Amino acid sequence: MDELVRLCRTRGFVWPSAEIYGGFRSTYDYGPLGVLVSRNVKDAWWRSMVQLRREVVGLDAAILSSPKIWEASGHLANFTDPLIDCRSCKQRWRADHLATAGDGTPTCPNCGGRDFTEARPFNLMFKTFVGPVEEDSAVAYLRPETAQGHFVNFANVLQSEHLRPPFGTAQVGKSFRNEITPGNFVFRTREFEQMELEYFVPPAEAGEWFQYWCNERLQWYMRLGIPSEMLRLRHHAPEELSHYSVETADIEFEFPWGWGELEGIANRTDYDLKAHAKASGETLEFYDPTSGERFVPYVIEPAAGVARAMMAFLIAAYATDEIGGEKRTVLRLHPRIAPYQVAVLPLSKKDTLLPLSQEVLQLLQPVAMCDYDDTRSIGRRYRRQDEIGTPLCVTVDFASLDDKAVTVRDRDSTAQERVPIDRLVGAVAARLAW
Ligand code: GAP
Repeated sequence: MDELVRLCRTRGFVWPSAEIYGGFRSTYDYGPLGVLVSRNVKDAWWRSMVQLRREVVGLDAAILSSPKIWEASGHLANFTDPLIDCRSCKQRWRADHLATAGDGTPTCPNCGGRDFTEARPFNLMFKTFVGPVEEDSAVAYLRPETAQGHFVNFANVLQSEHLRPPFGTAQVGKSFRNEITPGNFVFRTREFEQMELEYFVPPAEAGEWFQYWCNERLQWYMRLGIPSEMLRLRHHAPEELSHYSVETADIEFEFPWGWGELEGIANRTDYDLKAHAKASGETLEFYDPTSGERFVPYVIEPAAGVARAMMAFLIAAYATDEIGGEKRTVLRLHPRIAPYQVAVLPLSKKDTLLPLSQEVLQLLQPVAMCDYDDTRSIGRRYRRQDEIGTPLCVTVDFASLDDKAVTVRDRDSTAQERVPIDRLVGAVAARLAW
């Protein structure tokens, strides 16, 4: 993990936020490569959830919206973590995250103390004020999940899209939680991005669709390169369930510190639609005027975190091996996740290679995210591209000027092949196996 965090810092994936001021409490900024990976994670999710389906449509709801949403959804009353203070060192902890001694009492990770205050509920929503006056009527909350934006737009979606359950709405966006104990790099932060699907189904089919989504989402992580042995599905015990759920399973990944949640799949029943219908007075149900059929759908929700998925892909891809007696670090990332799919590397910085190298770059840019590097020795440039996970390097050398061909090098096998430039786009696309 330390090596990966170092690589993320030095290669420009993730940096501690406000580093020049000493950082800011487990917040992070994404650098040039981190932005590309995180965008790829979101694009891969969108492709699988929206693009390749007929019955799922997209949404982008407001982050700041009416506080009535959070009252109706139960978040104002229930979205809490149990908080306890260590009486010896005064540190504050999440009671359910503390290791316990043999007799079941929690132990303070800071001082080892075992004398704590009573646990009290702490609401995780960030409160703010809308407008210039800080009064009760101006209170608003940063959304702690994107999900409610789907439910409050349920009638709009039905009216504009004429969908019939089962159908889904998909949304990717930031959520905010005032986590008591953020940590483990970007695993738990106060500002994070979620990828959430709300899948509206006939109530009698909810069990079936819950199974379907558990399986479908596991397959997604595996298709993008995470080995099955690093993933597991863990069903929640009744006391763990969120206030809106009757059944939840987490997709967990084996992080270096142990198993941790990547994504939760929940059967939210008709809890949210009924709660918003009651609080707003609007009818939030499916109605078929032809058959007269009318019901409030149940919701199956696969809810994933972008940063956690990104971390899992990076951890699973991280490897070291030896090439020609020399050690290398390589990120064996799936081409859909890798920050660059191709690096164009002129063998030399000499002006003679520049026009053809630019031509090759411009040929490839419309089909793949390309890096271009003409600094240092070719060996060192290959090492850098291996370390940041670029699946293919395309080298333009002096022979290219005559034979109008380039060398394509594969990251994982390091095998090299000469490819005519006029067949390069097709050859690259075939190798990336999009
Ligand atoms: N709408 C349901 C919901 O929000 P959740 O299990 O609380 O469910 C879904 O969140 C996913 O969002 C988690 O599985 C995780 O990947 C991500 N997530 C939640 N809290 C997070 C945090 N503080 N930092 C980073 N990711 C988080």
